Amino acid sequence: MNVLVIGGGGREHAICVSISNSNLLDKLYCVPGNPGIENVATCIEGDIMNNDFILDICKKNSIDFVIVGPEAPLTNGVVDILNSEDIYAFGPDSKAAELEGSKIFMKDLCKKYEIPSSAYETFFDADSAISYLESQNMPIVVKANGLAAGKGVIIAHEKSEAIQAVNDMLINNKFGSAGDSIVIEEFLEGRETSFFIISDGNTVLPLGFAQDYKPIFEGNKGPNTGGMGSYSPVEYVDSNLEKEILSLAQKTIDSMNKEGRTYRGVLYVGLMLTENGPKILEYNVRFGDPECQVLLPRIKNDLLEILYLSSKGELNKVTDYELYPDSTICVVISSPGYPEKPITGSEIIIKNNYNILHAGTEKKNNKLYSKGGRVLNILGKGSDLLIARDEAYKLINGITWKDMYYRRDIGLIENE
Ligand code: AMP
Ligand code: GLY
Repeated sequence: MNVLVIGGGGREHAICVSISNSNLLDKLYCVPGNPGIENVATCIEGDIMNNDFILDICKKNSIDFVIVGPEAPLTNGVVDILNSEDIYAFGPDSKAAELEGSKIFMKDLCKKYEIPSSAYETFFDADSAISYLESQNMPIVVKANGLAAGKGVIIAHEKSEAIQAVNDMLINNKFGSAGDSIVIEEFLEGRETSFFIISDGNTVLPLGFAQDYKPIFEGNKGPNTGGMGSYSPVEYVDSNLEKEILSLAQKTIDSMNKEGRTYRGVLYVGLMLTENGPKILEYNVRFGDPECQVLLPRIKNDLLEILYLSSKGELNKVTDYELYPDSTICVVISSPGYPEKPITGSEIIIKNNYNILHAGTEKKNNKLYSKGGRVLNILGKGSDLLIARDEAYKLINGITWKDMYYRRDIGLIENE
């Protein structure tokens, strides 16, 4: 089949690499792609938020199947449009993508179906939100309802910070329409982890857990980023807890069915492991980035077949599903100044592309330059995490880029 991948970061590079050897694949396209993806797919420039443009590419290139990487095209309804033209697509339609697109929808779903999550209240005006805050203990969490590029969650340690967040969202319009309504929720304490499944609306295939490192600096200091590294599997979830979390994921899929919002695609379940058991922090309707990069190499089956069967509602046809026990690690290399103000445009020389994924690079006159905040992803694989870690960090020595920044403590468990 001819396949189109939507997106152009490290996550999409990982997806393209994983499906490029599938026997089911004829031609692979990616929009917009990147210089790394170019080695395995035909890249097409253009706006991934323009559904007519995506449909046009599909028709011109006889695309049979589309895989959507980021959340924005999903909430923007690209899967709805493709399905209406009889093109299968991996990822939820816009109604199911509300699970990430609306915090209020997510919290109400958990409450209705008794899926453990923090206590919360929903507000549409600042006065009611502020008078509610008067009776609450700190810290407390204020969240913009809509998608806010990971910036719409404020953990307030002082009442004044919580009030500021409420005003920024509901009055000052700092988050645009994403902040027209908000959730104020109980602050949860514990270890944070992420669990991933692929579903077709009924059947659930577990991809396991991945650990992400959000803060920019070593020792988990500094502002949060999209993720500076990841590894999978994790060592701190035993099989009983894993079963419990898998059943929460299945319950989520079943609840979505009951709501008439069949969920097809990957579901990223963000959890806090509290002393009262696992609680859902958030759902994402896509693979995490850089979690995807460490989850996919662990899948023994043909990834393209799994994604395709998910989109058709036929995952029950997968009978020999298996994950490798080996560890995979991903170290993100970023531009200096990331996440606030990345300084880009410096030349990068990579001797050998083995296990190097591109995230924010561009090619000019056959030379490679940094383009975004997160620029390269270095993978390491091995029978345990430390072996995988050594492999990844050694590969960094083969990269010449005077400005590069990366955390040296990815995969060092004591630093989390
Ligand atoms: P979200 O996008 O809802 O996952 O929030 C982003 C990050 O904020 C999470 O990854 C957590 O680190 C943190 N967070 C969100 N909700 C809570 C909560 N109720 N208690 C503690 N931390 C939270
Ligand atoms: N790495 C976190 C995310 O993709 O949301």
